[in-house]
Amino acid sequence: MQLKHLLFTAATVAALPATDASSSETFGVIAIASGTGVQNSGFSAAKSSLFAGLPSQNASCDRPNENFATFYINDGSLYLYDASATPQEFFVDASGMGQGVIQYTTGAQPASGARGGWAIDSNNHLQYDGKDLIACPNSIDGAWSIWANAGVDNPGGNKNCVGIAARVEKTSNPNGCVYTQ
Ligand SMILES: *[C@@H]1O[C@H](CO)[C@@H](O)[C@H](O)[C@H]1NC(C)=O
Repeated sequence: MQLKHLLFTAATVAALPATDASSSETFGVIAIASGTGVQNSGFSAAKSSLFAGLPSQNASCDRPNENFATFYINDGSLYLYDASATPQEFFVDASGMGQGVIQYTTGAQPASGARGGWAIDSNNHLQYDGKDLIACPNSIDGAWSIWANAGVDNPGGNKNCVGIAARVEKTSNPNGCVYTQ
């Protein structure tokens, strides 16, 4: 009887959907590319895109003065953290057209690229498809745009892009934000 009860409990727990952000680890990201202008710049999210070194992401946040995006990974998909129920989830277009462009959707918006493929490697770096990310200068407000490595050194017609290590900084007190579309 007792064993049967235990097994039932374990199966019930395993069957629960893992959609609760608070059960996943939340983190910010710092770009590491020594000797370049993006070194030590925090990742921000704005206009459905990902940046490093953005002066102001203009998100609606619980703590508005913090200008960094907070992320979590659930089942290989990368999300922006918020306590509310409208998910903002990234997708990547690694096709010849997309060249590794990273964007996020809000709520039920359809993705024009792949979900999933995200992981934190053993060096504590956020990677897509097992590869480090790329930063390209001269994006909006002087920021660097962040791209997945789809085999294009200077994606999207950019120049002087650099490979970066996206260092994960775990946080136990995540700043909930709704980021601009
Ligand atoms: C944030 O708002 C300021 C002031 O309106 C604007 O100049 C800037 O371009 C905005 N940045 C983004 C990333 O939307």
